[in-house]
Amino acid sequence: MNVDGTPYRTIWLNEDGWSVAIIDQTRFPHVFETVTLRTVDDAAHAIASMQVRGAPLIGATAAYGMCLAVRADPSDENLDSAYRTLHATRPTAINLKWALDEMRAALRNLAREDRETRAYQRAWEICDEDVEINRSIGRHGHAILADIASRKAPGERVNVLTHCNAGWLATVDWGTATAPIYTAYNEGMDIHVWVDETRPRNQGASLTAWELGHHGVPHTVIADNVGGHLMQHGLVDLVITGTDRTTAAGDVCNKIGTYLKALAAKDNDIPFYVGLPSPTIDFTIRDGVRDVPIEQRSGDEVSRMTGRTDDGRIETVTIVPDGSDVANYAFDVTPARLVTGLITERGVCAASVEAIATMFPERASDEA
Ligand code: MRU
Repeated sequence: MNVDGTPYRTIWLNEDGWSVAIIDQTRFPHVFETVTLRTVDDAAHAIASMQVRGAPLIGATAAYGMCLAVRADPSDENLDSAYRTLHATRPTAINLKWALDEMRAALRNLAREDRETRAYQRAWEICDEDVEINRSIGRHGHAILADIASRKAPGERVNVLTHCNAGWLATVDWGTATAPIYTAYNEGMDIHVWVDETRPRNQGASLTAWELGHHGVPHTVIADNVGGHLMQHGLVDLVITGTDRTTAAGDVCNKIGTYLKALAAKDNDIPFYVGLPSPTIDFTIRDGVRDVPIEQRSGDEVSRMTGRTDDGRIETVTIVPDGSDVANYAFDVTPARLVTGLITERGVCAASVEAIATMFPERASDEA
C-alpha cells in the first residue's frame, strides 16, 4: 500500500541481496523507521518484541529468519535449531508454524550447498503468495461491500468497523480485513472505517489509523467500548476483522476484544466477516476455545502507556495504582456461530467444517 504516494511492502531484501529490511512497528505512529535483520536471532527478536506482528507478517519474517540461519550454517542441526528458536517467539498465530514447516519441507532434502538459494526463493514465494492471497480477499470482500453500497441512498457512505490491525502492516501487503476496504476505496467507493483503538497495545490507534490515513482512507478512531453503541444507532454496516488462527470448524481466534464485537454485531443483526488467508487455518483443531493457545503478554502493556507529548517527546507513563495486579490476555476466540462469513482467497464461505473443507479440500485432509 502507499505511504504518502510511495508503495511499500512490510518486508523486503536489502540491496546486498541477503539481509532483510522491516518496518519497526514499535515506533508507530509517530516514527517511521526501518530495521535490518542479519541473523536468525535478529528475526526472532523482531517477532518476539513485535517490531513485526500480525499473523501473516510473523510467518513471512520467520521464513526469512530461516534464510538467515541457512546462510550462516546450512547443516541439519542448524536448520532444526533455527526452527525451534523462531517457533518459540509467539504462540498463537498459526502462520508462524505454517511458514516454518514450508521452509523446512523445501530445504530438508536438498544438499547443503543448495539450501541457501532455495531458502531465499521459498521465502520470496511465501511473501508473494501472501500478497496475492490478500489481493483476492480484497476482490471477494469488495463484492460484499459493493452489495451494501448498492442498497444505500445516494450520498450515504458504507461504514465498516474493524478491530486491531489486520491491515497491510500485519501482512506483506494489502492486509486481510483491510484488503476489501482498500479495494473498495481504490475503486471509488464512499467508505469510512471505525477503527477500534484495541487496548492494551493499541494496534488500531497506532497502526490501522496510521496506514489508512497514509493511504487516504477516511476513518475515525474510537475507544474499544464504543462499537456496540454505534451498532445500535445504525452507524455500522458490517464488521470485518482479521484472525491469527481459525480452526477447521470456523472458530476465529483474533485480538482480544473481537469476541465482544461479534456478540454486539449478532445482537444488532450486523454482518460479522473475517478476512482469512488459508495459511491461517489450523486444520488440526476444531474447538478454538479449548485448543488455541492464548498468548499472555507482559502486564506492562495494560499498566503503562506510551505516547507523544505536546512538545514532541515520546514518553511512557503508568496508569494503574502501584500494587494492583494486572492480567494481559492477547487473544480471544469468537465461536463460528457468531461469524457471518469467512472471506478467503478462494471466495466467501460459511464458518463451518463442511464449507471450509469444500473450499480447501487439499488441506482439509490434515484435519484432526
Ligand atoms: O498481537 P498482534 O499485533 O500480532 O495481533 C495480531 C493482529 O494483528 C490481529 O489479531 C489481526 O486481526 C490478525 S493478523 C492479520
